[in-house]
Amino acid sequence: MQKKKKFSRESLVTMTELVLPNDTNTLNNLMGGRLMHWMDIVSAIAAQKHSNRIVVTASADSISFGNPIQLGNVVTLRAHVTRAFNSSMEVHIMVSAEDIPSGKKVDTNRAFFTFVAVDQSGRPIDVPEVVPETEEEKELYASALRRRQLRLVLAKRMKPEEATELRSIFYPDEALATAEADTKAKK
Ligand SMILES: CC(C)(COP(=O)(O)OP(=O)(O)OC[C@H]1O[C@@H](n2cnc3c(N)ncnc32)[C@H](O)[C@@H]1OP(=O)(O)O)[C@@H](O)C(=O)NCCC(=O)NCCS
Repeated sequence: MQKKKKFSRESLVTMTELVLPNDTNTLNNLMGGRLMHWMDIVSAIAAQKHSNRIVVTASADSISFGNPIQLGNVVTLRAHVTRAFNSSMEVHIMVSAEDIPSGKKVDTNRAFFTFVAVDQSGRPIDVPEVVPETEEEKELYASALRRRQLRLVLAKRMKPEEATELRSIFYPDEALATAEADTKAKK
């Protein structure tokens, strides 16, 4: 049976939070752990919207802390599913912080979380494919395969030699040779 398809934009979720004293460290900046908690929530909702299923967090990676977020800032988290595989979905999260009195807004963080859709017994279940539309969605969709291979290799769920798209970054000549061999075989 053909898999259902959904647009990337259908999973888009925007979440807004105000940084209060209880969210900060001793420098009056937002604590990383609190931000990761918000990232987990916004990206879980995006994965739920895509799959219409219960989802569990399988991994969180490439979390960057580019700029500190200050007490009183308004934090906006935007998340969407970049690509779905079988039962798993990669979600991209972008974070920005705004100081409303000065009107200054900066991009502060970025991350990729992976969720797995599960049935009532917690068993992984297939999800719809993602259809990217914009240039950014298409770039994230294409690169999602390399990121998946990297996280599965690091989690010892994939052999490095099977991570062909990932290897092509480090060994472009090998990728070229394989592509040429494939073309010859098809002729
Ligand atoms: C995530 C989980 C459901 C995977 O179950 P599993 O029995 O290993 O299932 P599978 O081997 O069939 O893998 C299912 C999917 O998870 C993906 N996955 C498993 N571990 C992963 C990891 N570390 N990083 C990324 N993806 C992972 C697999 O690649 C597979 O994806 P696919 O179906 O799209 O190909 C299971 O490990 C689990 O329940 N973990 C705990 C989740 C949790 O408690 N999260 C925090 C609270 S929400």
